[in-house]
Amino acid sequence: MDASASHVVTIDGPAASGKSSTAQWVADTLGWQHIDSGSLYRAATWARQRQAGSPEGWTEASVVAAAANVSLRPEARAFYPVAGDLPIGDAIRSVEVTADVSRVARMPGVRAWVNERVREAARGRDVVVDGRDMGTVVFPGAPLKIWLVADPWERARRRLTQRLERRPSDEEIAAETDEIVQRDARDATQTVQAKDAVLVDTTYLTQPEQVERIVALARAVVQKR
Ligand code: C5P
Repeated sequence: MDASASHVVTIDGPAASGKSSTAQWVADTLGWQHIDSGSLYRAATWARQRQAGSPEGWTEASVVAAAANVSLRPEARAFYPVAGDLPIGDAIRSVEVTADVSRVARMPGVRAWVNERVREAARGRDVVVDGRDMGTVVFPGAPLKIWLVADPWERARRRLTQRLERRPSDEEIAAETDEIVQRDARDATQTVQAKDAVLVDTTYLTQPEQVERIVALARAVVQKR
């Protein structure tokens, strides 16, 4: 691999397509770092929720102000959002944050704030970044862009199996599929497939298979440069 230049691989796609876990695994295999842009949208939402007021009344300025204290901290293999010096941890994955995050993500000022944090974190490093618009808006020149998709039923089944630690029933999968399809609709405007992205449909792939495929693509691209 060319050790002199820094590299960016982007992985975008709809909700629950396995972007973050795949991106982390790809980064680990390559010895790179992972940046999860969704974690910043979630951290901004979390920070605003800790203040008063119902989400309907949130202004862009108030969300950006609440997020001012949030930054991305580099650790060995990934970046994590912190509030001041304190790690935010799993609080950003709560049901409440998930319910309000799409509203926050539609605010242009919040998008600009996230994009700046992500570009700053990536500067001079080899990174795998995941989100919705990393390959179109944030790193349009990235040499490898992945568009990661899977059938909504399969995304729901995987998410539930992980959450419940058992095999979910068809009724449970159906209810979760409905949630996922609704979140896809809420996020539709900010979820954009780059024209030069490689489509990876994971519906019939295991996670090791999809990771292997993306790692092979990344190695091919890096060697060519
Ligand atoms: O990827 P994750 O589900 O954690 O992202 C949380 C939310 O952040 C998404 O539902 C979406 O509204 C927003 N998001 C975005 N653009 C990104 C990453 C996430 O709008 N690049």
